[in-house]
Amino acid sequence: AQNEKIDSLLSVMTLEEKIGQLNLPSAGDVSTGISTNSGIAQQIKEGKVGGLFNINGIDKIRAVQKVAVEESRLGIPLIIAKDVIHGYKTIFPIPFGLSASWDMDLIQQSARIAAEEASSDGIAWTFSPMTDISRDPRWGRVSEGSGEDPYLGAQIAKAMVNGYQGNDLSVANTILACVKHFALYGASEAGRDYNTVDMSRLRMYNDYFPPYKAAVDAGVGTAMASFNEVDGIPATGNKWLMTEVLREKWGFDGFVVSDYTGVSEMIAHGMGDLQDVSALALNAGVEMDMVSEGFLTTLKKSVEEGKVSEETISNACRLILEAKYQLGLFDDPYKYMNEERAAEVIFSDENRNVARKVAAESMVLLKNEGVLPLSKDAKVALIGPLANNKENMVGTWSVSADIMKSVSIYDGLKEVSENPQGVQYAKGSNLVEDPELEKRIGMFGKNTNRDSRSEEELIKEAVQLAKKSDVVVAILGEASESSGESSSLTDISIPDIQVRLLKALEATGKKVAVVLLSGRPLVLNEIIPHSDAILNAWFPGSEAGLALADVLYGNVNPSGKLTMTFPQNVGQVPIYYSNKNTGRPLEGEWFQKFKSNYLDVSNEPEFPFGFGLSYTTFKYNNLKVNSNTMDMDGTLTVSVEVSNSGKVAGKEVVQLYIQDLVGTITRPMKELKGFQKIELKAGETKKVEFSISKNDLAFYHQDMSFYAEPGDFKVYVGTNSSDVLETEFELLKK
Ligand code: IFM
Repeated sequence: AQNEKIDSLLSVMTLEEKIGQLNLPSAGDVSTGISTNSGIAQQIKEGKVGGLFNINGIDKIRAVQKVAVEESRLGIPLIIAKDVIHGYKTIFPIPFGLSASWDMDLIQQSARIAAEEASSDGIAWTFSPMTDISRDPRWGRVSEGSGEDPYLGAQIAKAMVNGYQGNDLSVANTILACVKHFALYGASEAGRDYNTVDMSRLRMYNDYFPPYKAAVDAGVGTAMASFNEVDGIPATGNKWLMTEVLREKWGFDGFVVSDYTGVSEMIAHGMGDLQDVSALALNAGVEMDMVSEGFLTTLKKSVEEGKVSEETISNACRLILEAKYQLGLFDDPYKYMNEERAAEVIFSDENRNVARKVAAESMVLLKNEGVLPLSKDAKVALIGPLANNKENMVGTWSVSADIMKSVSIYDGLKEVSENPQGVQYAKGSNLVEDPELEKRIGMFGKNTNRDSRSEEELIKEAVQLAKKSDVVVAILGEASESSGESSSLTDISIPDIQVRLLKALEATGKKVAVVLLSGRPLVLNEIIPHSDAILNAWFPGSEAGLALADVLYGNVNPSGKLTMTFPQNVGQVPIYYSNKNTGRPLEGEWFQKFKSNYLDVSNEPEFPFGFGLSYTTFKYNNLKVNSNTMDMDGTLTVSVEVSNSGKVAGKEVVQLYIQDLVGTITRPMKELKGFQKIELKAGETKKVEFSISKNDLAFYHQDMSFYAEPGDFKVYVGTNSSDVLETEFELLKK
């Protein structure tokens, strides 16, 4: 039925109408939406628009859909998109925070809830998940991804796609997902957004491609081309990437959309004029042009001049019509506009409770010397530039959120404490010293509430409060928009102004628990010695204050683990756990001349990938493989006993890594190949088992073939990527 419908439509469409389907304009400002007599409405009537994004509210969406269905010649419905990245109105932690939960069910549930809410409010398509691996915390968009690891990234990509799309895209509460940004966007040079990427194919295939591919394997309906170049050709015009890899090798059968003006930006990349770059993108395998109108204004001419074939345009149009058909838009163009369902699901207590739970699960305890959890009746001095702020709790890319409805840390602590009067707040310092920098950070409309008082006055007030309290909770770090798109930094340490505040608080003699808000790994060497505890809370979402209070007061035992290595200083970047050994590895003590190390700082990270403490302690024993050899087509069982050796129940992410000791290409020192999040009561021991098969041991070779090589392997299991038990086995030829 789908093919018949689409064939018959295509047979009556003019070339202009087909090109119109490939056009995705932005409806305008993300907050204002459009009116039906705007220029876009006229374009819709003329059949020049395939979809729209950045339009808010059922009424406006219904109005533009009505124009498409009732006033355009063929009545083809629009596909309405939005950046629903970590929640729609109920906001979950930023994706980087979500990844730190290592809980695939919860991550999937967060995407499911986002789809439930968005789909009731007119949205049929989200530009998520972002699956860009990144090993450079200077890049602001690490906040939107899942960190440095391809295996974990692939599991998360799958969970997100399943969450958004469900089992059946024609159901009204599922939406089309979009894997982005294809490809390698997270590897921009020097962490500067939109910068050049240059990488070997081996690294692409082994380290950066797996999460994109996992999304494709999970049936993602669309993909977004990245802004950067890949192998000297911008991704948006890169036929090898879009056609050979994505479609032919991976079997992707949805459509590809450019990023915002990604097509016309190829002019600045130096690929020609608007007509040249539009033809380049379409011929490469990009079907939809977001915002630049290059397709709309030049493709007809390119057909006339033989630069693009009408068949290529028809094929692109077919893919977009297929997506609309699968969503059920031809049967009911208004199916995603359901006020009743919207009133029931959007920002419901049920959804907010899940967001609170997920946020608490994502927090990572980095240090704790006897201060956390707080006693519930403690007099708490809550101090920090964003400790009493709502809008910065949600993090970047929460464009649909009613940010003023999020729970501030101050409100959350008062609600969960048994001594709410005893929780008192002082600002302590501004976010950063330089007002111009703070202005740049605040450009996206989230107020950082810069205080006009002097640094001395702010510190004095905070110190006075600390002195009359039992304990200090200092909220330090970044604002929402210090990370995210176009928020790259060269200095990722805690601003000096905040460090000076912390030292003044420490000097009061009170215990100081630091809570970090951040969208990236930060350099923490200036604050570690001056704090008794450090809890990384990322940007927790709409329930921020409550989730944080749950963890601080011990209602929830922290169990998050880092998904990106925290460097000692920015000069170590890129630093990641799965590095290669080199020919001159540093073995034993740092420093050794003519070994691969630095003069000024050791090779060790501040905190390794997978790291995270708990209010209890875990012990690992008896790591075993069920055999010392594994047949090529067989499986190996790895088991370990994990005990909760502390006094309270807790969750632990048990991590399994392998190392291929000899290969025809050099292999990483460790690669994550399994993890399980388990819960243990105090004193309880569980045996955890992992199964390894040849796919876990396989890798891409120089000719891009993917197979495992027989030989010796090490297996590591532990609480993070550094602290592990080890054993070994041999993979046999047969
Ligand atoms: O989806 C985003 C993308 O991640 C960055 N550029 C704009 C797109 C649409 O808003």
